[in-house]
Amino acid sequence: MKFSFALVLVLSLCCLPTLEAAVYKGQKAYVKKCRKCHGGGQKVAASKRMKDWKQLLNKKNKGSGLAKLHLENEKAKASWKYFDSKSYRKSARHLRDFMVEYANDSGNVPACN
Ligand code: HEC
Repeated sequence: MKFSFALVLVLSLCCLPTLEAAVYKGQKAYVKKCRKCHGGGQKVAASKRMKDWKQLLNKKNKGSGLAKLHLENEKAKASWKYFDSKSYRKSARHLRDFMVEYANDSGNVPACN
């Protein structure tokens, strides 16, 4: 009983396509780091177009656009430490995948809310 449950779990994890895994990682980072200020992630994602997200969370500069936007805004002070961290720069591409996946013009309807 216990064994087959573990097997199903392992199999389902292995079978997640890499794209989905990246989106999931981005969603996880969002819930941990952004939700307290912005609320539901899919709503935020749908507030912009794919093109806008690709610009804000640009690959080459590791999301410097979004970081700058926060670092220059006094109201976002509580997020400064995060946006200036290695951990943000590492998550930026996952956040990008998540935002682009649910962007306004992505054609993906949020699963919930
Ligand atoms: C401490 C609170 C805080 C945290 C944490 C935070 N933000 Fe923000 N964010 C703000 C504030 C304040 C603004 C400025 C806009 C405003 O006044 O509403 C902003 C602006 C934005 C904008 C621009 C909105 C627009 O209409 O152009 C985006 C996109 C955004 N944040 C995404 C994120 C993401 C993604 C994360 C997590 C990596 C995050 N934020 C974390 C407070 C925060």
